[in-house]
Amino acid sequence: MSRIISSSQQKYLDAFDRKKDMLLRNMEEFAEENNIPILSKLSANLLEQLIVMNKPQRVLEIGTAIGYSTIRIARRLGRKAVIHTIEKSAPNIAIAKENFKKAGLENKIKLLEGDALRLMPQLQKKYDFIFLDADKEDYKRLFDYSMVLLKKGGVIFVDNLLWHGYVAANKVPPKYKKSTSLIRDFNRIFMTQPALSSTILPVGDGVGIGVKIL
Ligand SMILES: C[S@@+](CC[C@H](N)C(=O)[O-])C[C@H]1O[C@@H](n2cnc3c(N)ncnc32)[C@H](O)[C@@H]1O
Repeated sequence: MSRIISSSQQKYLDAFDRKKDMLLRNMEEFAEENNIPILSKLSANLLEQLIVMNKPQRVLEIGTAIGYSTIRIARRLGRKAVIHTIEKSAPNIAIAKENFKKAGLENKIKLLEGDALRLMPQLQKKYDFIFLDADKEDYKRLFDYSMVLLKKGGVIFVDNLLWHGYVAANKVPPKYKKSTSLIRDFNRIFMTQPALSSTILPVGDGVGIGVKIL
């Protein structure tokens, strides 16, 4: 349940969620049943809109999981555009590959297998759009690599920046103390980064959007 907006508002907005094909619906169910975190419906809709508006030619995603957001992005890309997506979990990689095949998107998606902390410094060509959705303890370093790889005028989209509402709460359950502190530190950096025009929106679990201005 969302702690960012009220549950009645969440229910109201979810009712507008557009019909999706069986593949996406099955993926949403699979993620729910297997406790695999994927982008919320509202955040995924926003991400799709940004892809349509910005028309990126090269997209980088950090954190593929089962490929749900990858497929939603890939379907909105132009004819020659591509998405590179990084995942380190072997079981998730196997499921994502199956899903890319089912979606018929293998020519648009390149899956980079391994730890993004090791792979990102090896990437040479810059990207127009980066979606950061990985382990919270890696966020600061992955963000630094992303800033190097993002073109001027490019967009970075980061999930979970309101972290179930805990970043703004006075009392945080012990289980969430460390992760909340990591996201708070990250948000300070994200919102004060001089090279970015940045904002955090109360959509889904809190979405950060930054445009590289310098
Ligand atoms: C929140 S899930 C991604 C969800 C996906 N973007 C979606 O919305 O459908 C995070 C994924 O990132 C992967 N991950 C976390 N840290 C990573 C790292 N440093 N390098 C590569 N993958 C990482 C995890 O294994 C997990 O599958």
